[in-house]
Amino acid sequence: MSETHVDPMWVQVSYLVAAVLFILALKSMSSPRTARTGVLIGAIGAALATGVLFFSGIKLANLALIVGFLVVGSVLGLVAARRVKMTAMPQLVALFNGVGGGAAALIAVVEYLVVDSDDLLFLIFTVATVIVGSIAFSGSIVTYLKLQELMTTRPVVIPLGKWITILVAVATVVGGVWLIVQPQEWLLWALLGLSLVFGVLFVLPVGGADVPIVISLLNAMTGLAVAASGYVLGNVLLLIAGTLVGASGTLLTNLMAKAMGRPLTSTLFGAFSGTTAGGAGSGSDRPVRSGSANDVAIMLGFAGKVILVPGYGLAVAQAQSTLRELADLLSEKGIEVDYAIHPVAGRMPGHMNVLLAEANVPYEQLKEMDEINPEFSATDVVLVVGANDVVNPAARTDQTAPIYGMPILDVDAAQQIVFLKRSMRPGFAGIENEILFDPKTTLLFGDAKDSLTKVVAALKNV
Ligand code: TAP
Repeated sequence: MSETHVDPMWVQVSYLVAAVLFILALKSMSSPRTARTGVLIGAIGAALATGVLFFSGIKLANLALIVGFLVVGSVLGLVAARRVKMTAMPQLVALFNGVGGGAAALIAVVEYLVVDSDDLLFLIFTVATVIVGSIAFSGSIVTYLKLQELMTTRPVVIPLGKWITILVAVATVVGGVWLIVQPQEWLLWALLGLSLVFGVLFVLPVGGADVPIVISLLNAMTGLAVAASGYVLGNVLLLIAGTLVGASGTLLTNLMAKAMGRPLTSTLFGAFSGTTAGGAGSGSDRPVRSGSANDVAIMLGFAGKVILVPGYGLAVAQAQSTLRELADLLSEKGIEVDYAIHPVAGRMPGHMNVLLAEANVPYEQLKEMDEINPEFSATDVVLVVGANDVVNPAARTDQTAPIYGMPILDVDAAQQIVFLKRSMRPGFAGIENEILFDPKTTLLFGDAKDSLTKVVAALKNV
């Protein structure tokens, strides 16, 4: 792309419109009611920004290649997004994010090679884009492998890992400064390699339950890389869009770290100091009380107040509509029903909200953790549907537990607790849940959808 090119006014106005659309999209996405519209507004902004480029007067070399790859990329993205299961959404986000970071890094490499400028700011931003984009790329690939369970989800601590990571980080920074001071091509490739290695080393020690936080952080980094590449390319829209992604990703990272009750540093570097010890796993053969769908229906039918606690298993079983059916039936019988939503229930931010919105559950019935927690002690029955970690009291008491410090839903304060799950296997964090052995707990074993269907049928006769 030519350095001297100045976009015509109508192109600059189009970029401004696209930037406003991005901001409106983010605003709309902050509420479940308007989130869909937000996604659409964002997509229109992106289409406008991309489309304008073709008519902006910039001489595009390899037009056929560009259009060809645009079509291939769009088809792949569309098919992947349509086919992905809701439970695999975080992996998809990780992949898309990694591709964004990698693209920004490649663009910076190409600009460096083609433009051959020794302008200080150009060099600084090029180096920043290469480093941050490459880290986001390789780090996101490792998070994908972890979430897809193509590798262990536990923290991977390699021998001398802490020191190797520090060494690679220092080498990357030194290489970056050197490249700015004394531009030379081999150093650019070395920097790219070092940054890719650092991305891998950075994510390997993060335990499975913390991976979403890292995805969000890498997402913020991709935003920054894109913003920096906006400077390199002299494109204001990339600067704005990248900054928006960087800022929102940083906010989301902080919110998630807070919801999991741990400082970000402990999430990222905990494995080096041993503070993210993996869970002990289940395997206990202590007695538990299991019941039938009939027993559960009777408990529910005679309750005055019921709280439903959905978790990851609800998404796996795709039982959201059946859960709503149960809630409606209870309401018809004059029983007070609420849904308790933990901020990290499921496998992605807002997972339960999205899932229950699919079943048209009214938002008013969804209560967030801080709002619902004081209500558990006045609740007759809590029905925990495919949730585990988010109700596990080990988060309060067991300092060695990977979820220690995470605020949880206080279901143990209720009069009776019912768990719908398939087995005694633990949840995502891999640790046993003491409430399962509590005398006031009843376990209804089976797939959540089957169990709920049976409970609904039985409840109709209570
Ligand atoms: P988990 O602790 O993972 O527990 C899920 C429970 O669902 C398990 O007890 C499992 O037991 C049960 N289950 C699975 N499939 C089922 C089915 N078909 N029918 C019935 N039960 C089923 O889930 P949670 O309580 O929602 O906690 C979320 C965890 O994921 C936290 O540790 C969180 O940190 C982590 N995490 C969260 C996010 C975000 S941002 N939401 C992202 C990644 C990870 P059985 O196998 O015995 O059925």
